[in-house]
Amino acid sequence: AGEGQGQSEGQGQGQGCEGEVKSAGNFKVCVCGGAGGIGQPLSMLMALDPNVKELCVFDLSVAMVPPAGVAADLGHLERKSEVKGYVMEVGQKPIDNLKECLTGCDLVLVPAGMPRKPGMTRDDLFKVNADIAKGIVEACAKFCPDAVLGLVVNPVNSIVPAMAELYKKKGLDPLKIVGVTTLDVVRANKFCGEIMNKNPNYINVPVVGGHAGTTILPLFSQDKVAKLIPEDKIPDLDKHVQDAGTDVVNAKSGKGSATLSMAYAGARLGRSVLAGLMGKKRTECAYVKSDITDLPYFASKVQFGEKGVSKVLPIGELNEYETKRMEEVKAQLKGEIETGLKYAED
Ligand code: NAI
Repeated sequence: AGEGQGQSEGQGQGQGCEGEVKSAGNFKVCVCGGAGGIGQPLSMLMALDPNVKELCVFDLSVAMVPPAGVAADLGHLERKSEVKGYVMEVGQKPIDNLKECLTGCDLVLVPAGMPRKPGMTRDDLFKVNADIAKGIVEACAKFCPDAVLGLVVNPVNSIVPAMAELYKKKGLDPLKIVGVTTLDVVRANKFCGEIMNKNPNYINVPVVGGHAGTTILPLFSQDKVAKLIPEDKIPDLDKHVQDAGTDVVNAKSGKGSATLSMAYAGARLGRSVLAGLMGKKRTECAYVKSDITDLPYFASKVQFGEKGVSKVLPIGELNEYETKRMEEVKAQLKGEIETGLKYAED
């Protein structure tokens, strides 16, 4: 009954925005888990974004810092954004608490959830984090059904299919659910820059497949600098990108996973989404519902436009190494997608 009621309440708000192209500097953004390790720096970068008019920092009452504190702190930056904090008790449901926070949101970034600890796989995290994501996604479906949802929460490979299917079941657009894989691109660019002694700002390596271990496939052959990397260096570089998250988890000795670089990457994606909503098309890699391969979800270059994802772009040409790796990617990703689809069925 809650859902039915939610749809009708939510739609009034949502339809008001449908079809309109928003002007620069006018966006409402929410960071769910905004007082966490990723959430705080991500909130800061979004508060600094000149296109953000209102930033909502949402987190639980048990968070490291009260979200109202993060909001008060960020509220002193000399930027136009107004920052508000929203808190929820553990055990409560976002759908019962986030009406004001989510209504009118254009973009909801979700780094809420448990990070990986050393020795833990992304799959160990699935059940806990899928339940957290579900609560937030259901609230978004009710209060901001037209918003783009950037899911940072791991395991992205399974959580995105689970949440996109939930959106589909509610009659909403599953392409509003976007898995944030930007950090893989950021790392591929950085590591390639180091090897080639070039500024990574001028490198753009597409990373396709998924967002865990072997499913991360950087296509070095498709960037003008990266394609000059000697062939014998590619397998190690490929592995370096795949393992980069684990390297940070280990370097932080159990005290967190990548937070600062993730916040940077999330804000890069956020900026592109907002540019797209303003009518300035942007291309970023992201993990979304897809028909460019035989798998129903896949990370590839995606064009962001006036309603969010406007095109899922084809993978393009692969060299021999990448073609071989693609088989490995698909074999692994298939099962991880199935985990998500099964969750959505239950
Ligand atoms: P953290 O533990 O520092 O922060 C998570 C925040 O989420 C906490 O403040 C917590 O109170 C909050 N939270 C938990 N349940 C919530 C709920 N129901 N509603 C609202 N907030 C809730 O963790 P960290 O390091 O910020 O990581 C967050 C997530 O991002 C993890 O799942 C991690 O695996 C993932 N991650 C994803 C990356 C990517 O490239 N997509 C990279 C790095 C981490």
